[in-house]
Amino acid sequence: MEKVISGIRPTGHLHLGNYFGAVKSFIDMQDKYQCMFFIADWHSLTTHPTPEDIRQSVRTILSEYLACGIDPEKAPIYVQSDVKPVLELYLYLNMNAYLGELERVTSFKEKARTQPDNVNAGLLTYPTLMAADVLAHKADKVPVGKDQEQNMEMMRLFARRFNRIYNVEFFKEPESYHFYKNAVKVPGLDGSGKMGKSQGNCIYLMDDEATIRKKVMKAVTDSGPTQLNQEKPEVIANLFTLMELVSTRETYDYFNEAYNNMSIRYGDMKKQLAADINAFCAPIRERILEFQANREYMDKVAARGAEIATESASKTLAEVRHIIGFSSK
Ligand code: TRP
Repeated sequence: MEKVISGIRPTGHLHLGNYFGAVKSFIDMQDKYQCMFFIADWHSLTTHPTPEDIRQSVRTILSEYLACGIDPEKAPIYVQSDVKPVLELYLYLNMNAYLGELERVTSFKEKARTQPDNVNAGLLTYPTLMAADVLAHKADKVPVGKDQEQNMEMMRLFARRFNRIYNVEFFKEPESYHFYKNAVKVPGLDGSGKMGKSQGNCIYLMDDEATIRKKVMKAVTDSGPTQLNQEKPEVIANLFTLMELVSTRETYDYFNEAYNNMSIRYGDMKKQLAADINAFCAPIRERILEFQANREYMDKVAARGAEIATESASKTLAEVRHIIGFSSK
């Protein structure tokens, strides 16, 4: 079975956009592939050198992924910093990663611009650590967003280069699995096309009913349709897209019909949408709270994940050491 691995940044909470994007494809993939997921806490040091409470952020994101349906029996989930052999591979890969190419990576240039006082070597070698994360398990596929494509290209470059330098056919080039291509794009509540943390237009899976209602009621609309069956402007189409995701077919049709015959009242539609988003999120929210209250279980999940990942990475590293010439295995 093909191996799949992906890293998750431990920043903040999951929102509906994440749910219908990365999270849903992870859940689909865990039934079809041999998956492993990890929380990239080392990577977070590249931008947050003195994290407030890194263990807590890791636990938060772990509880949210488990609540969404990642099943650790099918897909071990671990914390990056628990799996040390990856560091050794990071070192070897760094020896054959060149300043010029690392400096040309767009996300590096972007970070160097936004944090000019902290252009650290970890930031520069972000792509080598990411390559080590994946190559340590010789994974076949990596589910990633569009923003990670350059890192994926670097990963493949490092894999090829290792093979060439040591004259082996050892690493295969991991493929990107572009989940966003078949994922539903979840719109934001501000009329912008996409729900995203940096846009501040998100509904978080953790939001309670009152928060959801407040956010939805504030969503941008227009002054209503002026012609029968007219095309919906983006702000309105966005509300319908959200409704398509969380409401029943009948509800959607009811408001769609009301829009088409110009009898729609956006207030009513928003109330319904808020209720349906809440009904969708409530069971996930409850599971998040359950997991968070059961730290023992979460620690067990992470420990088991670390054990599996460490075993897999150790095996690769023994071979890598041998290939480079350090030991006879
Ligand atoms: N860079 C990824 C992100 O920002 C997180 C990540 C770290 C990752 N290591 C990885 C993703 C390995 C896939 C594979 O989202």
